Amino acid sequence: MSERPILVTGATGKLGRLVVERLLARGQPVRVFTRRPETARALFGETLQIAAGDFGDRAALDTAVRGVGRLLLLSPISTRLVTDQVAVADAAVAANVARIVKISGSDWTIEPPGNSISGEAHAAVERHLNGLPTEAVSLRPNAWMQVSLANTIRNAITNSQVVAANLDAGIGYIDARDIADVAVHQLLADRIRGRTLNLTGPDVVSFRQVAALLTAALKRPVAALEKPPRTVPKEGDFEHRAVAQFVRLIAAGRAATTTDVVPTLLGRSPRTVADFILEQVTAETAVPEYQP
Ligand SMILES: NC(=O)c1ccc[n+]([C@@H]2O[C@H](COP(=O)([O-])OP(=O)(O)OC[C@H]3O[C@@H](n4cnc5c(N)ncnc54)[C@H](OP(=O)(O)O)[C@@H]3O)[C@@H](O)[C@H]2O)c1
Repeated sequence: MSERPILVTGATGKLGRLVVERLLARGQPVRVFTRRPETARALFGETLQIAAGDFGDRAALDTAVRGVGRLLLLSPISTRLVTDQVAVADAAVAANVARIVKISGSDWTIEPPGNSISGEAHAAVERHLNGLPTEAVSLRPNAWMQVSLANTIRNAITNSQVVAANLDAGIGYIDARDIADVAVHQLLADRIRGRTLNLTGPDVVSFRQVAALLTAALKRPVAALEKPPRTVPKEGDFEHRAVAQFVRLIAAGRAATTTDVVPTLLGRSPRTVADFILEQVTAETAVPEYQP
């Protein structure tokens, strides 16, 4: 591909930073769009380009997309998700950006429609992308280990408990590092592999199995407890309502899926929950070395 920079939005966040680090490690020219240029500079060093601005500032977006070859489109769950992502995509099309790789919602939040305000927002952006002249692929990752599972592991270390609305509901958790690897693959590949790609880890793991894996990793019993999910608030903060819906959909078994997209694209197996739990437990329970 050409040496036009790749623009990454959401670059300072949990997933975006993994994508930027990988692109820089491959020697790709990268530009990030951020409200916090100093944070981006501290995270990524001197070699990358920084475009400062807010998604709501079209002039800043127009400056950010100028000369860009490909775009990684990522923004947080919020009432602004559709407006923000459509604005970035439209600015990119106006600047002749050649490809958009979007981080979308989990497939089970989007299909079937009507179950998730977050999934509906991502679906609206996907429809918009499908109507643009620019080629676009939407990555639909299942629940990320680094978000949902990391909290479960921390709670187990502190309270020796795993609490879930349905202990036998499984999740095809995916490691965010595998999502980043696929995003980089689709940013750099000669062609995209479809309009939507449903990304999962290698297997479906229930909360009861997570408790068993934590028992083995911590070498002490971790109890598995069921607790009914809280009701989804009708009003209030968008993200909290979205997360309450995720909990209910997961309890109903909707996230219990796996696909072969990651191994097909990357030529290797995705990272496992068992390995992630061991890694996290080792990191979280490490005794700091004595410094005289
Ligand atoms: N967690 C999961 O299991 C999961 C599963 C499927 C899909 N997803 C999707 O992943 C996305 C969230 O990714 P993440 O957790 O990596 O995000 P995150 O850590 O919350 O980071 C948010 C990023 O967005 C940027 N940002 C926020 N508001 C902005 C604004 N007004 N203008 C410009 N930049 C702005 C922030 O940059 P600055 O602060 O530097 O400006 C930051 O880099 C969501 O779309 C979610 O639906 C998550």
